[in-house]
Amino acid sequence: MQTDLRGRDMITTQEWTKEEIDTVIDVAFDLKRHRALGLPHAHLRDKVLAMLFFFSSTRTRASFEAGMAQLGGHAQFIESRSTQIAHGDTPKEIGEILGRYNDGIAIRHVDWGVGSQYIRDVAAASRVPVLNMQCEVYHPHQILADLMTIIEKKGDPRGKTITVSWAYASSYQKPLSVPQCLILLMTRYGMNVRLVHPPEFKLMPDIVEQAKENARRYKSNFEMMDDFEAGIKGSDVVYAKSWGATLTTTNNEESVKIGAKYKDWITDERRMAMAAEDAIYMHPLPADRNIEVTDAVIDGPQSVVYDEAENRLHAQKAVMALTMR
Ligand code: CP
Repeated sequence: MQTDLRGRDMITTQEWTKEEIDTVIDVAFDLKRHRALGLPHAHLRDKVLAMLFFFSSTRTRASFEAGMAQLGGHAQFIESRSTQIAHGDTPKEIGEILGRYNDGIAIRHVDWGVGSQYIRDVAAASRVPVLNMQCEVYHPHQILADLMTIIEKKGDPRGKTITVSWAYASSYQKPLSVPQCLILLMTRYGMNVRLVHPPEFKLMPDIVEQAKENARRYKSNFEMMDDFEAGIKGSDVVYAKSWGATLTTTNNEESVKIGAKYKDWITDERRMAMAAEDAIYMHPLPADRNIEVTDAVIDGPQSVVYDEAENRLHAQKAVMALTMR
């Protein structure tokens, strides 16, 4: 177990060793047990987390804020548009200043080609840990909660098959960050990772190369497919969600038009029946119900989406307790 994690940024799980991530998961389960038993665990008494949002959120905001309170500290909610960021506060100023008021800075900024660099620039100027609440490239805290959920439901992930698939959605062009983090982390945990998408919905080539390298290093499998049903067949974990055709076009309307060619990429009961008999269905939420996934699947016996959402709380508390103490 690696215990010297004080002061570390969590921007991508790729920058943490597997042993360090094992520690996060171990601590997350411990904190979950503590909460279930009603045992106090105020590891961050009097500490403050700044949560800076450039984009909307339900689960991320609520779970970070609740998590800080349960750890004995406080989280302050800051929106870019209602602050002087809208009038020119720079990332360096934000890192310097919020780093002096707070014990951690968490940021969500998903603008294509902007968000990830913004978080890096704040981190470079900050004296306290910077936690990525989602950028256009990574969503590390979602994926830590996902790993925790897979371990809870399936035991040792090694040798299990996970389908990381694109699905159609009409609401908005969702970031690539969830599938990208899934292929990066699950290949490190020995899973057979199937990345499934239509040709226009590629992930960033650099991320795909890193996932391949992870698979080689950790002796897991990484396979790319373009057939939704073949991708689900026999799988233990069906993780099908939408993302934008961002690498094909940065024009939102164009992306919507391309996606509409694949309206039949919806997870329904017939397709779930193609997966392993005891397969689980996962989705980070929000989902486009009856477009991306049917009610029968997301509300059905194989769905673990609420436990997955709950685990955001425990995984994030573990990261905060380890880095901000
Ligand atoms: N899964 C997730 O990040 O949810 P929110 O966008 O509601 O924070």
